[in-house]
Amino acid sequence: MKILLIGASGQLGADLVKALSGHSLLTPPHRSLDLLQPDRVRQVLQSKHPQVVINTAAFHRVDDCESQASTAFQVNAEAVRNLALAAREIEAVLVHYSTDYVFDGAAGRPYLEDDLPRPLNVYGASKLAGEHLVKSVWEKHFLIRTSGLFGRAGSRGKGGNFVETMIRKAAAKESIRVVHDQRLTPTGTRELARATAALIETSHYGLYHVTSKGNCTWYEFAGEIFRLLGVRADLAPTTSDAFAAAARRPAYSVLANHRLEELGMDDLKHWRDVLREYLGDRIRRPGA
Ligand SMILES: NC(=O)c1ccc[n+]([C@@H]2O[C@H](COP(=O)([O-])OP(=O)(O)OC[C@H]3O[C@@H](n4cnc5c(N)ncnc54)[C@H](OP(=O)(O)O)[C@@H]3O)[C@@H](O)[C@H]2O)c1
Repeated sequence: MKILLIGASGQLGADLVKALSGHSLLTPPHRSLDLLQPDRVRQVLQSKHPQVVINTAAFHRVDDCESQASTAFQVNAEAVRNLALAAREIEAVLVHYSTDYVFDGAAGRPYLEDDLPRPLNVYGASKLAGEHLVKSVWEKHFLIRTSGLFGRAGSRGKGGNFVETMIRKAAAKESIRVVHDQRLTPTGTRELARATAALIETSHYGLYHVTSKGNCTWYEFAGEIFRLLGVRADLAPTTSDAFAAAARRPAYSVLANHRLEELGMDDLKHWRDVLREYLGDRIRRPGA
């Protein structure tokens, strides 16, 4: 298949490049294909004519989205609509990623794809708007909600990932306070990329939850990182109120991979196993 990947230099993008290596893959960098330039996006899609377009680009610094709401909606919603329109013109399947932060956390059990979203922050609202716009424009889509991503490339938009931040703080002997009242499922980008590669081989279009198995609080996630590394860190739990981030976040945003399960395609591992692999790989191949 000919696949155009937007955001190949990102955390998820880098693993998609590997997972899709058997395909004819086009990976235009941000400087040559900016999602915020709809005419250029349309021109590139018309000239390259991919069968699948995958978009990992987003404005996803969750706290900054609160004060830059118009940018969040431009990147995460309006630009995504323009991309969907351009994909529809060439009948290319569109793959787009969304977030667990579309939910308010009140369910207290893993969220299914058809649970009613109610975002608590601008980021979640802008990603939800992006979902609606994709659905309204072009039915040949895979909308993939995921959560707490960590991958070797580190998030470009966020300047790294949680695992690397924890390791850096421990190495600097900082006192580390991590929220213990937000529960999620950390998800490895390598696994998410593999699941994406499997989904695009099908024509089961629609909305999917794709996360690793199990769940934890951010504090428990940090504890497991240090336990696996055998590092003694000055780690203590805190609360969202004490942390006082600009954006409100759901207390519980665990997703159930319900539709994947129905298709017999939910082979994602437990987040602890993915973390162990990530840390092992980091030690074996430090510069990779
Ligand atoms: N990170 C998480 O924990 C998390 C959780 C749930 C959902 N998600 C979703 O998962 C997706 C991937 O996240 P990620 O962590 O892999 O992101 P990332 O590392 O920040 O990568 C984003 C990629 O998109 C490119 N990009 C940004 N703005 C662009 C634009 N206007 N036009 C074209 N390219 C642009 C970036 O290139 P430059 O760096 O060169 O600008 C980068 O290659 C996003 O949709 C995000 O909302 C992430």
